[in-house]
Amino acid sequence: ESNVPGRHIPLVVGHRGNSGFAPENTAAAFAQAAVAGANMIETDVRLTADGELFLFHDETGVRTTNVAQVYPLRAEDPITSFTAGELRRLDAGAHFGPEYAGEPIVFLSELPAALGFELGVNLEIKSPVSSPGVEQELALMLAGNRDWAQLLETQQLAVSSFDPASVSRLADLHLPAWQLVSTDPDAVLLARTDPRVRGVVADHRCLTAQGAAAVRAAELGLWVYTVNSDADTAAVLALGVDAVITDFPGNLLAPAVAGGP
Ligand code: G3P
Ligand code: MG
Repeated sequence: ESNVPGRHIPLVVGHRGNSGFAPENTAAAFAQAAVAGANMIETDVRLTADGELFLFHDETGVRTTNVAQVYPLRAEDPITSFTAGELRRLDAGAHFGPEYAGEPIVFLSELPAALGFELGVNLEIKSPVSSPGVEQELALMLAGNRDWAQLLETQQLAVSSFDPASVSRLADLHLPAWQLVSTDPDAVLLARTDPRVRGVVADHRCLTAQGAAAVRAAELGLWVYTVNSDADTAAVLALGVDAVITDFPGNLLAPAVAGGP
């Protein structure tokens, strides 16, 4: 909440960490998001072939890991077809720059320690259809892990998905569920949205003033992704959003949010 009357200062959420400056979804990117002043990080959750939750955006490891060197015959296979032990052999940092060589894929159980217990977390469920049971695994892991219990005592958690069925399963499990959308969140869409959701996470390129007003009228939170330019930041701030997901959380804290000199 803003301490300036009439101004609404949104949460700053580092998209895949501080991913403009560090390899996405790695401990380095999460640590940098904290230093940049982010309030939260957004990260993508998938399930390994042997049932461990890990943080990874793409469907394969080709773009962001050395899978082609380590497992040449399986490089194009879904990243979720690998076991946790196999994924631990991959480098998820070198693709971004030699100074990040050796950054491993992060497992969800390790995230609180990687964050230093400072930041809130937006977990995006990435593979709900190909990984049935991923929401249940998540709920079990959060409930049974001491580091997560400690993080959740003080920090925020939001769990999101583009898949409405996955969002409903999250709500069934009493997790704070948010609906991701890649269209303007109009009244028709909101009528179809699970009434238990806390809010909508919208693509800023689709969000109109009418869409923002519809979300407000439904008494839902409104977050936007992925906002990287000053012009786009100004536009979403004018719509009064509650959180801005960005690859450059440090930039977002500059004059546009602070209110200028
Ligand atoms: O959660 C917001 C945003 O991350 C959704 O798109 O493809 O970057 O995961 P993507
Ligand atoms: Mg994401």
